[in-house]
Amino acid sequence: MLAAELTAIGPAHDVVVAKDVPEPGSPGTGRVVVRVEACSINPADILLIEGKYAARPDVPSLIGIEAAGVVEAVGPGVERLAVGDRVLSLGRANWAQKLDLAETEVVLLPPEVDLEQAAMMKVNLATAWRMLTDYVPVGAGEWVIQSAANSGVGVNLIKLAASEGIRTVNVVRRPELIEPLMDIGADVVVVDGPELAHRVQDATGNAEIRLGIDAVAGSLVQRMGDCMAEGGVLVNYGLLSGDPCQLTADQVVFKGLTLTGFWLAKVMRGMSHGEISDMYAGLAQRVVDGTISVPVVARYPLSEIQAALKHAGTYGRDGKVLLRPNG
Ligand SMILES: NC(=O)c1ccc[n+]([C@@H]2O[C@H](COP(=O)([O-])OP(=O)(O)OC[C@H]3O[C@@H](n4cnc5c(N)ncnc54)[C@H](OP(=O)(O)O)[C@@H]3O)[C@@H](O)[C@H]2O)c1
Repeated sequence: MLAAELTAIGPAHDVVVAKDVPEPGSPGTGRVVVRVEACSINPADILLIEGKYAARPDVPSLIGIEAAGVVEAVGPGVERLAVGDRVLSLGRANWAQKLDLAETEVVLLPPEVDLEQAAMMKVNLATAWRMLTDYVPVGAGEWVIQSAANSGVGVNLIKLAASEGIRTVNVVRRPELIEPLMDIGADVVVVDGPELAHRVQDATGNAEIRLGIDAVAGSLVQRMGDCMAEGGVLVNYGLLSGDPCQLTADQVVFKGLTLTGFWLAKVMRGMSHGEISDMYAGLAQRVVDGTISVPVVARYPLSEIQAALKHAGTYGRDGKVLLRPNG
């Protein structure tokens, strides 16, 4: 079978190859074999491959942060899973046709869940949900501002917020995104640039914004800070610009803004398997009921992993790039 192997640290589309590896045999005690139906390619995969993530991966190693699939075989002692179950992998080497996983590395999904959408749940949907709920209590009618609003996380956040009656200000870098984001439930969409705060004040009627969610870092953090109310909390979760987060002394001293960071991997390390399963059960329900649906721009077989990675790294995509390892 094919699996994606990292051969060196370097440009993603050069250093990952589709390699022939042995199929998993019959699963051992407490283990299952999963046939992988869909994997998403996230910015975190690319950062990892390029040696820019929190930890450098082993070389060579199998990689891929997300996958969803169907249980094909169960080993002795497996209690919660059966052949045919739809599942999410909690493993970190998921770009393969089949996975051999411990029962505790798998989350059971509802039978009616769409597996492509499920393959985008583990990282981005959980990230959007936790950032919306963990930092500042924001209720129906209140406002949140976010950057990179057309990203996978951003689209999830717009839809989760809208389903709770929370209003969103969405900062993007391309005007052509305004209409599509309004269509999925955004309340305000603004293109980043000078006078961002004035434009946000005009569009929201001077709303008090106490929660800011940012994936870009750099000077945009400062412009978002200008849009926020006194004592607001800015949560940074990405480094898309590659620049350090920027706030002025006035913003932190006089305005009392707090800048903090979110990293899902760290949050999940503090959760039990039961808590993780419960979180994903709730989120999977949002996928099943149609609240959550993230656009997919292209699907590639594993044999075209390099083209897929190249596509995932391009500017101005209109959705996620997925791998379909089994066609
Ligand atoms: N901390 C965590 O736990 C965590 C979890 C999940 C994701 N993340 C991070 O969240 C971010 C979004 O991930 P995703 O999977 O949702 O992304 P995605 O769907 O692949 O979309 C990429 C987004 O990044 C924007 N972008 C790329 N380069 C940019 C730049 N230099 N300045 C401003 N915007 C830029 C793109 O805008 P255009 O469409 O205009 O190109 C698009 O909105 C990434 O940084 C990722 O690492 C962090």
